[in-house]
Amino acid sequence: MRWPRGLTRLCYGGDYNPEQWPEAVWADDVELMRRARVNLVTVGVFAWSRLEPAAGAYDFGWLDRVLDLLHDGGVRVALATPTASPPPWFSLAHPDALPVTADGVRLHHGSRDTYCPSAPAYRSAALRIAGALATRYRDHPALALWHVHNEYSAACHCAHSAAAFRRWLRHRHGDLATLNDAWDTSFWSQHYGDWEQIGTPRATRYLANPGHELDFRRFCSDELLAAYTDQRDLLRTVTPDVPVTTNYVLGGWVPVDHARWSAEVDLVAIDHYPSQVGIGAEEQTALAADLARSWARRSPGGPGWLLMESAPNLIYTAGRMHTKEPGRMARHSLAHVARGSRGAMFFQWRAPRGGAERFHSALVPHAGPDSRIFREAVALGATLDQLSEVDEGAVHAPIGIGWDAESWWALQGPGLPAELDYLAEVSAAHRALWQAGIGTDFVSPGEPLARWKMLVLPARYLVTDAFAAQLGEWVAAGGQLVVTYLSGVADEHGRVRLGGYPGALRDLLGIRVEEFWPLAEGETLTLSSQPPGATGSFWSETVRLAGAEPVIGYAEGPLAGQPAVTRHRVGSGTAWYVSTRLDEAAYRWLLTSMAATAGIEPTCPAAPDGVEAVRRSTPDTSWLFLFNHTDRPHRVPVSGTVLIDANRGPGELAHPQPVSEVLVPPGGVAVLREPSPAPAAERGVHDPQDIRHV
Ligand code: GAL
Repeated sequence: MRWPRGLTRLCYGGDYNPEQWPEAVWADDVELMRRARVNLVTVGVFAWSRLEPAAGAYDFGWLDRVLDLLHDGGVRVALATPTASPPPWFSLAHPDALPVTADGVRLHHGSRDTYCPSAPAYRSAALRIAGALATRYRDHPALALWHVHNEYSAACHCAHSAAAFRRWLRHRHGDLATLNDAWDTSFWSQHYGDWEQIGTPRATRYLANPGHELDFRRFCSDELLAAYTDQRDLLRTVTPDVPVTTNYVLGGWVPVDHARWSAEVDLVAIDHYPSQVGIGAEEQTALAADLARSWARRSPGGPGWLLMESAPNLIYTAGRMHTKEPGRMARHSLAHVARGSRGAMFFQWRAPRGGAERFHSALVPHAGPDSRIFREAVALGATLDQLSEVDEGAVHAPIGIGWDAESWWALQGPGLPAELDYLAEVSAAHRALWQAGIGTDFVSPGEPLARWKMLVLPARYLVTDAFAAQLGEWVAAGGQLVVTYLSGVADEHGRVRLGGYPGALRDLLGIRVEEFWPLAEGETLTLSSQPPGATGSFWSETVRLAGAEPVIGYAEGPLAGQPAVTRHRVGSGTAWYVSTRLDEAAYRWLLTSMAATAGIEPTCPAAPDGVEAVRRSTPDTSWLFLFNHTDRPHRVPVSGTVLIDANRGPGELAHPQPVSEVLVPPGGVAVLREPSPAPAAERGVHDPQDIRHV
């Protein structure tokens, strides 16, 4: 399957909402899209009330004209099913399909995402409109991709949801005795004697049951996935050669396990809106793109993925919007492309006059095309065109970082010894290696581990026996493993493993943790040994050696003289344990020293600090992306021909000629085609699946 169908260049475009505009504007839109070299737009994502103004009565005339116009203009379409926002008539006719909060409040029509994913009326209405669109547009030449729904993320506590949750629980646990055991319901008199006694975890007096909450999160993910696969299966029946996807929204509140979902989408697609500005946004961009690429390993459509939405300019940050300075839109777009995205898409094409998101940025802003943003959009279109060839290259990273949505959910549960932010722990590991210029993948549960030489498992709270055994074999075969505090503590139900922490990983790590010593907010402990001045914060533990050797110790406080970081040689590998939150420099020192021991080099050893290097490659060619995140220009020794030269004006393309160094200006990007494949250590495993020919 070629996907998105019919596209031969990197994808460029975004959400296009022609239903918000008089028809006279559409021709202008297509003309501007041609100027910007837009080649893919998502159409109809929130257009349900305009497509089906009354139950079963369709108005496709306007969409016919829009699709024809786009096709004539050479723009292909990711046709959306509009099911994230049911129309008013639907909610009035089916009040039972409106969602209920954990407090028991039924929400009303008036925004979007206001539906219960388990309500039969919602599920059948969603299938009906998806089926009507598929039948109408199955042969339309503009149709490149199905974009199902938008950012699945709903959760509901109504009677439909409770009934669906019980069905899910029966399937997972089989019988009530097993469920009672998994949830430890003898605690606080919660033993269930009948399935009907179980509801969704609604608001309650004090701490809720952690097993109940964890299973509800799993259920929500599976229930939304079923809502997606309902539509996907129907679309596949009508248009078997058109790939189907949905766009993921990222964040701690999202009840969706994207790694598992990725086995069900033909193209992993993420929306990315960094919450930080400055260097934090660059790190968040790298992390989101590394996650997307890693999830895409599971997709039947192959390892490519797509940045489906990002903001051209103003972004929401803590209650006030933040303007993207010149160059940032292109830099972030290319940061995604460098890490494997098949293009750069935006929310949204044209800024609307009204509606809740009227001040959200757009490629065509309120000011119109005579604006900085549209000029940057035109330049970005030219840049992406120039980079079409990189679409063949895959990114290979020598180090894996553990990613587990279920551990994240469990760590958001009640009654833990400290509120641990799982994403922050994962980000800290990613940041340490990102700063060191070493590429990282994320590793999801169930994946084979052989392709990585080194693995970091931050706060992997839930560990199954099978995963512990898999890790043991991988280390014995030569893997370098780093495990941080609060890992291995619980089984898959969230029940604490007895006999000492880190439970399932005790033997592998050669330690036994007898006690947790959470530190007070702001408290730090000096650590002994390398690197000088290292400190720990947030957490500490009484670590007893059981085969491991101490590497770094606590130098003060009640644990002074005891191990803080340990190392255990197992077979031809080593398993390290880190019992406290190391300061940034110490964490970076530890991970880079381990990487060096494992023979892992930075992507571009000659790149100075603050210049990020990412490589895409095939067995014959490679492309090096350099991003200067500092406020000074940097010369980087390289070898290759320049495809993108950030010293030229926007859209002014470089003349490919061999160079031995490039000057990357502050905030700028350079892209080079390298003469021969990258060194073997850097290339990693080339799995034939990883190479796409467009
Ligand atoms: C996305 C969403 C878009 C738009 C955008 C605003 O999460 O899919 O429809 O709301 O956020 O940033």
